[in-house]
Amino acid sequence: MNENFKDDEELAHSLNDPALRAEYAAPFDHYRPMFIVRVLGSLLVGSGTLFYGRKPSYAKFKAIEVIARIPYQSWEVATYTILSAMYGNERRAINLTKLSAFSRMAQDNETMHVVVMSHIVRRLHCESFLRHTLIPLLFSFFYFWTTYLLFLISRRAALELNYLFESHAYAQYQEFLDREGDRLRQTPITSDFLAFYGRNVRSEYELFELIRNDELIHRNRSLRELPSIT
Ligand SMILES: [Fe+2]
Ligand SMILES: [Fe+2]
Repeated sequence: MNENFKDDEELAHSLNDPALRAEYAAPFDHYRPMFIVRVLGSLLVGSGTLFYGRKPSYAKFKAIEVIARIPYQSWEVATYTILSAMYGNERRAINLTKLSAFSRMAQDNETMHVVVMSHIVRRLHCESFLRHTLIPLLFSFFYFWTTYLLFLISRRAALELNYLFESHAYAQYQEFLDREGDRLRQTPITSDFLAFYGRNVRSEYELFELIRNDELIHRNRSLRELPSIT
């Protein structure tokens, strides 16, 4: 097993402890991104609310997760582009390569989220092809290239925008656990993809706790990477 994967899984599990989670979240809880990023973030979260409602639901999570992977894939491609022009600057190459490694890990993690979420909504028949598959796919195309350009113009803006997106995802999963906790604890989950990924959970509650923790890790890491690459 990849060492970084093992570390990330250990971190995700440790964040089930509320005190540890609060301590881990605290340094970035009140971060204020630059003005233009706050405008873009409001548009992003606002369109999610418009299409899928304010309340968290399985189908909304499925749509969110299709979109959530995109920035990481986009950063990786943008990093590749920048590195092509900057092989001579070793310090910068190291920092960009580190960001690239994080974005690959996050892509795999978000892929696991979207596959498991798709598995659940398919079982429950609670999605519509237009709203939960086609629109997120079309939006992802637009989001990929916007993020790519944003990353080339301002890496700070690109990472801060993802901070806002992941903050929203984190809050939505927490709200879902608070609202539906009792039912989720009684709902078992089996998924071949989860087993393949290396994550063992017994109930949907355990699944959603860990996904919430993943989003918090993505949120914090988006800002932790900032000083080294800007
Ligand atoms: Fe996710
Ligand atoms: Fe995420």
